[in-house]
Order: sequence, then C-alpha cells, then structure tokens
Amino acid sequence: MAEAFNEIVLPGEKAERYATLAAEIAAVLDGEPNLTARMATVAAMLAASFEAFFWTGFYVVDPAKGDELVVGPYQGTLGCLRIAFGRGVCGTAAATGRTQLVEDVHAFPGHIACDSRSLSEIVVPVRDAAGRLIAVLDVDSDRPAAFDAVDQLWLEQIVDRAFARSVV
Ligand code: SME
Repeated sequence: MAEAFNEIVLPGEKAERYATLAAEIAAVLDGEPNLTARMATVAAMLAASFEAFFWTGFYVVDPAKGDELVVGPYQGTLGCLRIAFGRGVCGTAAATGRTQLVEDVHAFPGHIACDSRSLSEIVVPVRDAAGRLIAVLDVDSDRPAAFDAVDQLWLEQIVDRAFARSVV
C-alpha cells in the first residue's frame, strides 16, 4: 500500500489533492493500531505531497506533565524538543484546543523559531476517540501565507479520521 502511494501522481488542485491524499492515508493506516506508526505515516505522506511543507509533524502531550508538548514523529529540519502549553503557535493550539492558522509567524506573539526559514504555519489539535487532546499537528512553510481555509478543513479532517474516528 505505502509502495503504491509513492508512485501516485496527485492532482494539481489543492482541494482535489487533499481529497486523494486523505483517502490514501486512511487506506495505509487501516488496521494499524500503533500511535507512533500512525503519526509517522501521516507526517511522511503529508510532507511528500506538498512542496510548500517545510516541517510537518506532531508534538504530543507529555503524559508525565500534562501541560507540555514533546516532539513526536516529523519530517523536516531539527525541531525544538519541548513546548509548554500556551507558548508559541503549537502551545497556543494545545492550550485553546483550536486550530491556529498563522500567515506570518514573525507577527505571532511568542512564536518559537526552531528554524528561521519557517515563515507561515498551521497547527491543528489532535484528539483521540474520547475527545482528549493527545497531540498537535504542526505544518510549517518556508513561504509566506502558505496556508488557508482549504488546508485547515482538510488537515482537520485527516487528523480526525486518523486519530479520533479510527478503531484503534
Ligand atoms: N513553530 C512552532 C515551533 C515548532 S517548530 O517550528 C518545528 C511554534 O511556534 O509553535
């Protein structure tokens, strides 16, 4: 299945590309209960599908602390290891439970610059089937204002299907 994905030519239009990708992700994850494997697969498939995605991955809620994120599976340059709830874009998404769409990271109060090439980003809260926050999906771009409502809609849907609605 994963081998087949690597050969696929995705549609050029963004929403169509997401639609195809969302179905592919669901197919590859089917039957896999391991959370790390699921997060690594989502990160790899998203990163492979959009050229503007400079850093794509998960910060997971540290169960030992409860109010701190620790880096999880990702694709991209070296990321910060830990982010407190409320700090930067990821910490704000975790603390508020709401997607953060940031057109200009330098204008975002408290933005954490793991890599100065990152210019815009979107961070989506990740919940399990019980509605508990387990992580955030962070996608950063080296292009300004790379994300819009289409990205938000599809990334929220992909994350919901992979972590809240799957039988794992
Ligand atoms: N941009 C994030 C930090 C994480 S990294 O860029 C990988 C933030 O401000 O939350």
